[in-house]
Parts: sequence; C-alpha cells; structure tokens
Amino acid sequence: MSSNAKEKIEKLRATLSEHNYKYYVLAQPSISDFEFDKMLEELVALEQQYPEFSDPDSPSQKVGGAINKNFESFTHQYAMLSLGNTYSEEELRDFDQRIIKQLGHSDYEYVCELKFDGLSISLHYEKGQLLRAVTRGDGVKGDVVTDNVKTIKSLKTSLKGDYPESFEVRGEVFMHRPAFDKLNMEREEAGEVLYANPRNLASSSLKLQDSAEVAKRPLDIYLYQLLEKNETIKTHAESLDKMKSWGLKTSEYTKTCANMDAVFEFLKHWDEARKKLSYDIDGVVIKINNYQHREELGFTAKSPRWAIAYKFKSEAACTRLLSIDYQVGRTGAITPVANLEPVYLLGTTVKRASLHNANEIARLDVRAGDYVYVEKGGEIIPKITGVELSKRTGDLPMHTYITACPECGTPLERKEGEAQHYCPNEEHCRPQVVGRIQHFIHRKAMDISGMGDETVELLYENNLVRNVADLYDLKFEDVLKLDRMAEKSAQNLVDGILASTKIIYARVLFGLGIRYVGETVAKKLAAKFKTIEALMAATYEELLLVDEIGERIARSIIEFFSRESHREMMARLKAAGLQMENMEKEKERTSDILGGKSVVISGVFSRYSRDEIKDLVETNGGKNAGSISSKTDYVVAGENMGPAKLEKAMQLKIPILSEDEFLAMIGQGARI
Ligand code: IVH
Repeated sequence: MSSNAKEKIEKLRATLSEHNYKYYVLAQPSISDFEFDKMLEELVALEQQYPEFSDPDSPSQKVGGAINKNFESFTHQYAMLSLGNTYSEEELRDFDQRIIKQLGHSDYEYVCELKFDGLSISLHYEKGQLLRAVTRGDGVKGDVVTDNVKTIKSLKTSLKGDYPESFEVRGEVFMHRPAFDKLNMEREEAGEVLYANPRNLASSSLKLQDSAEVAKRPLDIYLYQLLEKNETIKTHAESLDKMKSWGLKTSEYTKTCANMDAVFEFLKHWDEARKKLSYDIDGVVIKINNYQHREELGFTAKSPRWAIAYKFKSEAACTRLLSIDYQVGRTGAITPVANLEPVYLLGTTVKRASLHNANEIARLDVRAGDYVYVEKGGEIIPKITGVELSKRTGDLPMHTYITACPECGTPLERKEGEAQHYCPNEEHCRPQVVGRIQHFIHRKAMDISGMGDETVELLYENNLVRNVADLYDLKFEDVLKLDRMAEKSAQNLVDGILASTKIIYARVLFGLGIRYVGETVAKKLAAKFKTIEALMAATYEELLLVDEIGERIARSIIEFFSRESHREMMARLKAAGLQMENMEKEKERTSDILGGKSVVISGVFSRYSRDEIKDLVETNGGKNAGSISSKTDYVVAGENMGPAKLEKAMQLKIPILSEDEFLAMIGQGARI
C-alpha cells in the first residue's frame, strides 16, 4: 500500500511541476485551474497521510513560478503569497467556522471582491510617484517591469491627496475581452499562434522587452491590497477608500458583508453577473475586513488564514452533435468541425465547435448523435471537451474519418508525427488556392488596398487568378467585368495591386505563405538571404544556420522552392517588379573577432537579452546558428541551458562559454 502511495505521490509531483512550468513560465496552461487544484489537493492529502514521503521540493510546498532573467529582479519586501481556494459552499462554511474558532467570537466582517483573472503586480510609490512595478515571479523575487506597467492608461503614476511618503500596493493587471479578441483576430490573420485567453496575453505582454509594443496591447489594472503600517487605517475597506482617494483604481464592485449569508448572496450574484463584465473573473476573494483580526489569524506557509478564494467552475453546455464537417485551410490542413444543436453558452449561441483532428475524435470516441460538452475555455472557437455517455443510444456507429478531401476528392495524407491530415492537391484544391491569394493580399503581407477576401473569390470564380502572380497580369477591363464592380473600385483595385510592388522583400516572403514561415521567420530570412535568388539557392544546412530556423521550417522552404510551378511564379513576380531583395543596410561591424564562426546561443542571460547577445555575435563577425552540429564553433550558455543541448555540445567537444567569458572574448565589459 505504502509503496503504491509513494509511486502515486511522485507521479502527482512530477505532473504538477510540469503544469506549474506551463502556467508560470510558458504562461500556457494546458489544464484548467480546477483540474490543477484537484490534483494538488490529492497530493496534499496523500502527503498528510504518508508524512514519511514529505519533500521540501514538492509542489505542495511552493507557491510556484520562475523568474524571467531578462528583467532586473527584485526581492519583495513581503512575499507575494497565494490564496487558499475552494469550489464549494460547504468548504466556505468550514473556513468561516475556523475563523470563529480562532478569533473566539463571531464579531467580524468580510470584504468580498472579484477575483480578477490576470497577473498580480506590486507597485512601489515614493513621494506620490510610481517608482517601481514588480511581477509576482516566484512569490519571493519578481521582475521589474516598470516601463511596461506605465503603459497602462488607468494607472496613475503621480498620486494626489494624503498619500504616505512611501508605500506598496498590489493588484491585478488584466486585459479586457474585446481588446483580447481584436488582438487575437489580428494574430490569426497573420497566421500567428493564438493566445488561449486574456490572462496569457496580458502576462506575455508584461514580459515584452519593448514598452512601445506593450502599449499596443491595452492592459488595465485593479488594485486590491495596501501594504502600509499606518495606524490610522484600521480596516481593509478603509484602505481601499484611501487608495481610491489617492487616484489608484480600485474595483467598484467590492462589498463589505456582515455574515456568511451576505457572502453567499454576493457569490450567487457574480456567478451570473460575471458574464456581463468586459473582463474575466475566475471567482471571488473573501477577506477579513479588520486588520486586528487579520493579525490574530496570521498566515500558513503559503497563504493568509484571513482570506480565501471561491472559484467559479468553468462553464460547459451539453448539446447534441448533429454531424461532423471538415474544413480545408490554405495550407491544406483539414480541421474537423462539429455541427451542434444550437446551445446558449456565456452570452452567445454556439452552433459549431472545433474537434481539432482525427486523434481527438478517436480519444473522445465522439459519434454523430451523441450529447457532448462544449466549453469556451478562452479560445475564439468553442471546443468539445467530452461526451455524455449516459445519454448515448445503443446503436450509434463509430465515426470514420474522411480519407479524401471534401473539396477536391484527392486522397488525404498525414505526415509522420503530425496530428493533422492534409490535402496534397495544393495547385487545384479551391480553398487552398483562394486561401493563399487571400493571405498574400492581407494587410500584414502585400496590403493590397481595394481588395478583400470576397474579391479574391470573385476573381477565382471568373478564372482570372490561379496564383498570386496572376494578380499582376490583371487588367482594368478584366476587373470591370466582375459582378458589382464599378469603375472606381476597379481602378482602386488595379492601383492597389500596382502599389504593392513597393512592399518590402520580407513581407513578400511572408505573403508567399510558405508553411511555417510567419512574419518573424520571413524577416530573419530576408536579413540572411539578401536576394530571392540567394534564398532559392540556399541549402538545407545553410537554412539551419539561420537563427530560429529549425529542421521543420528549413525542410518546408526547400520543398517550396523546389517546385517548378513555384519557381516559375517567383520569376513572374520578379518580372512584375516586386521587391525581391533586401535594401536594408547591414548592421555595423564592430570587430571581426568571431570572423565567420558559427555560434549557438542557449539558455537565459543576466547582463544582456538573447537578442542582444545574438546582435553581438553578428556585429563581431560571427554567425548565429539555431542548433548544435559539428560545424558549431562555440556555444554561449546562459542559465538553464537544456540538458540535451549541453550533452550534444560536450559530445562534439565544442567549447562552451559562459556569458562573461563570451563578453570578455569580444572585448565587451560588463554592462552594469
Ligand atoms: S488578495 C495573499 N484580491 O489571486 C494574497 N488577490 O490566488 C492576497 N487575485 O495572487 C491576494 N483578484 O493575483 C486578492 N481581489 C483580489 C484578487 C486577487 C485576483 C489574484 C492574485 C493572487 C491570486 C491568489
């Protein structure tokens, strides 16, 4: 029994550490808070039952988190703790009973606040001026992100009134859902990876190095905790009033509650009312109001005993799956989509939901006619999360995945190791052909004004375009013949196409829609291969030498340019006058110390950011490579270099330099 428990404890610890990493470091959690908390609860229970297996490194002993090394780090004066939490009213009553027992009376009040689903921040003010903003980090030490926080419009950097000489306030930075949807939509159009929810987007925004970029992502803030030993402030409610009077933004929905009935009423109200807020909350925080009471109650190792978070369960709807359709994307990727009996979920009626790929359908064993659970989970497209087997009628046939493209009938292919099926008929499968042209004219690529997705459809229907080079052969008369096309719009369209010949080379590359070549990769390619001829002649090995280009991308680029039809299209685009070379000036060389040497950067650095180190490699004559091979001359290793890379470098006997050794080598002193 006990060896069984040990195994279970170890397994839970490993799983929770992995999820902690995904949540705090990658800001991309793969399970819900509810699932995480349930697992943690199970671990805590087992550890209590079997104290012989206790371990100070267990996730149950930590607040969790890791520190981002690119920012200056700051040790919090008071650790930023987390809150104990619960999903049940019964446990909330237990919490209340513990308070009564510890205080020895029931003469106390609670303050109920919304639990904002963002990331916590600590602000330091001196003489009424914002001095510093620090993220929570691992709870003990966080990152100084003052400039980024200053981009928040609702944050006062200069206070008014009777503020203390020096104090700290804490609160939550978050993003409103409409702003999130808009930014994600732009990312989707640009073919970039989407953020799962506003919290992740807010979190990664605060960690951006460039504040100007942060300013493009509208963040907001609510402050909910004053850390100041001011004898005149006796309750939390008073502290919130004071903060507000100094100009700090506090929530308008905070409520002082005299007893648990009032608390339950608040919970009930917000479980519904939250759906009408423009931002996400994941629960309610219930805090003891009086500071004297708080002092008597104190803290456990991880959280205050005077507060608890009540979390709402994430909402799912159950409805009938009518049928499964398939969509073909511009890259030929097939996405199965569920057609549902319309169901109301969090403010909208859901009729369709993604089923991701064949594996997901098999995993869920979902069948047409089943009752399924749909969740919004933050994504734009709702997803199916489970099947209600108790409602399955006996004779539903298992779903069989299609084997041929629903648009053109070509047999589908599935590359090894990939979950998605593809239609290989790139040249003649309608949604692929149209999708590629739509991608090409997009704002982030060739930005052809006067032309939208529907125009592309129309041009295709009328046999006027089959690939992007055909756009440049379009004549005013051809366009004018199209349905509903007036002279003015026809002229605009032709002018827009002509104007696009001035669009820079990197964007032309992005517009080609080579699989896995997004905006960033296109820029890197344009910087390394100054002309289209150089890029088309690049070998697999040469491509791998480019920063951020791995095997998958390199293979895709080689494949793209090896096709005769693509080479012909490139020649036509060049003849049409498109920009096919990089006109940007090279970075100035400071030395040739690394003359032609291939350098791999790995890990996180303390004095310079990764990009700055890479720049230093180049300005000193070296080349940055993405992965270690026998051709690598040096590896510059920061902290947390991956063990696989380290082993490979040692095996190949490649010199491994620390950040300081590297800087000394190129004659660059420490920056601080
Ligand atoms: S009070 C000792 N109030 O929830 C911690 N936290 O799990 C005191 N949060 O890290 C925090 N809304 O990021 C407090 N109204 C609120 C909150 C709130 C969101 C977050 C905060 C904290 C986490 C605790």
